[in-house]
Amino acid sequence: MPRHVAIIMDGNGRWAARRRRPRAIGHRAGARAVNTCIDFCLDQGIEALTLFAFSSENWGRPEEEVGALMKLFIAALDREVEELHRRGVRVRFIGERSRFSADIRARMQAAEALTAGNGRLSLNIAASYGGRQDIAAAARSLAEDVAAGRLQPAQIDEAVLGTRVALADLPAPDLFIRTGGDYRISNFLLWQLAYTELWFTETLWPELDTAVLHEALRAYAGRERRFGLTGEQVAGRARPDLQGSATP
Ligand code: IPE
Ligand code: IPE
Ligand code: MG
Repeated sequence: MPRHVAIIMDGNGRWAARRRRPRAIGHRAGARAVNTCIDFCLDQGIEALTLFAFSSENWGRPEEEVGALMKLFIAALDREVEELHRRGVRVRFIGERSRFSADIRARMQAAEALTAGNGRLSLNIAASYGGRQDIAAAARSLAEDVAAGRLQPAQIDEAVLGTRVALADLPAPDLFIRTGGDYRISNFLLWQLAYTELWFTETLWPELDTAVLHEALRAYAGRERRFGLTGEQVAGRARPDLQGSATP
């Protein structure tokens, strides 16, 4: 069973196009699939779920679509956060928060504050997130420490950099899922996915159901994770990467 699942929720636009509806309708349907996914993780006892909701590059979409997504974002936060809190979900956001409007930032902050003490499921929403931006921000923060004399360049290694990227306090994702039939990472968690098992499905995000998620878990259960070692080595020892995304 994976401890941490990371998902690219893709295919909303094509789902709508097939129905000859505007893309925003696809995003609205996609919001329902988010609930299916969270329910599934709670049922399965998965500890962490990271969802790619909006990429740094998605800001470049038509203004009308970005506007519709922001409205949906606000509505979803207003509708779901209390219930998530009641169910023991800790909600956090990763990404460049400063790019959002003040009302969205305030809701993000409130959701995080309300749910900070919860431990049943850690739900991380990647919004205005880019993997390259994440690594660049980590590098900048290290450079600031060096400039201030708090850190020597020679002390910088993957473990140190790994403490500055998003989700540093969680184990690295065990399973990555992308819906929508494209086989790419699209600037999601570049650093954190180094040894994650990747699974892709043609299913469009709004059509997500528990059968698809069970299929992903079955595929994951059948994988042998070797982390660069030999099959014989990993058969004889515990997983080497349980200490977080900093550790290979
Ligand atoms: C994913 O669905 C949601 C976001 C990127 C916000 P898309 O909107 O990318 O849907 P497709 O890929 O065009 O079908
Ligand atoms: C990735 O999907 C981002 C999200 C699902 C939020 P995109 O639809 O933006 O990715 P590309 O453009 O197909 O690579
Ligand atoms: Mg897409």
